[in-house]
Amino acid sequence: MIKIHCLSKHFGNIAAVCGISFEVKKGEVFGLLGENGAGKTTTLRMLATMLRPTSGTATMAGWDIVKEPQKVRSSIGILFGGETGLYDRLTCEENIAYFGELNDMSRAQIKERIKELAKVFNMEEYLTRRAGKLSKGMKQKVAFARAIVHDPKIMLLDEPTSGLDVSAIRDVHEFIASCRKEGKTVIFSSHSMSEVEKLCDRVGIIHKGNLVEVGNIDEIKSRYGNQSLEDIFIKLVGDRSER
Ligand SMILES: Nc1ncnc2c1ncn2[C@@H]1O[C@H](COP(=O)(O)OP(=O)(O)OP(=O)(O)O)[C@@H](O)[C@H]1O
Ligand SMILES: [Mg+2]
Repeated sequence: MIKIHCLSKHFGNIAAVCGISFEVKKGEVFGLLGENGAGKTTTLRMLATMLRPTSGTATMAGWDIVKEPQKVRSSIGILFGGETGLYDRLTCEENIAYFGELNDMSRAQIKERIKELAKVFNMEEYLTRRAGKLSKGMKQKVAFARAIVHDPKIMLLDEPTSGLDVSAIRDVHEFIASCRKEGKTVIFSSHSMSEVEKLCDRVGIIHKGNLVEVGNIDEIKSRYGNQSLEDIFIKLVGDRSER
């Protein structure tokens, strides 16, 4: 479903992503781990066609991110942690509906889908409130619902649970698990090992723009003598206390 081939991004003389390659199969939840500045967001932004690669490419649901960005965009749902990109003056419902219209959904389809998503994310109570007046977690949930209103095959989620409270995190986790059941393909970045272990089939560890490990979590663990994912991570990216 996702094939990444020698993907690189340089910002001036900063090599943010250095020729990474990996695949994610249909129905797989793939976790991207890496320390701050490792290149996770840059990778996801290239896959989302928000950023043009310096070299290399990727195909998403068969479409090339460089040659067919429009096709890619209609196949994906994206959520980038920090910026929800909601229109403050519109209500939650209106924000979601607007995105549905941009994706050529009918009014009836949008209405039905909003009902469904409001239930999944426990946000029925504030659907008619203006987005600008909501708390950070509430905004994040609306942004999530908006990103997937068109029921995309692929989801790219950059730190989808960062800054959320326990129950909001649980909602997002349940949602990702339900996506997997429906056969959706998900890539998400995270700093939480337990989150990744709970949700992912496979993981990739990225360090200074390079993919230093990729594979099934159990296989990776057995390759490292059954250490915890956290210990393996620290080993691969280096323990700062020893630098
Ligand atoms: N627009 C940009 N211009 C210049 N440098 C950038 C830009 N975006 C990212 N970088 C640099 O690219 C590198 C990778 O950044 P990126 O945001 O992809 O890391 P990350 O793994 O998402 O980190 P974090 O966990 O902190 O979100 C960093 O050195 C960063 O400073
Ligand atoms: Mg990031």
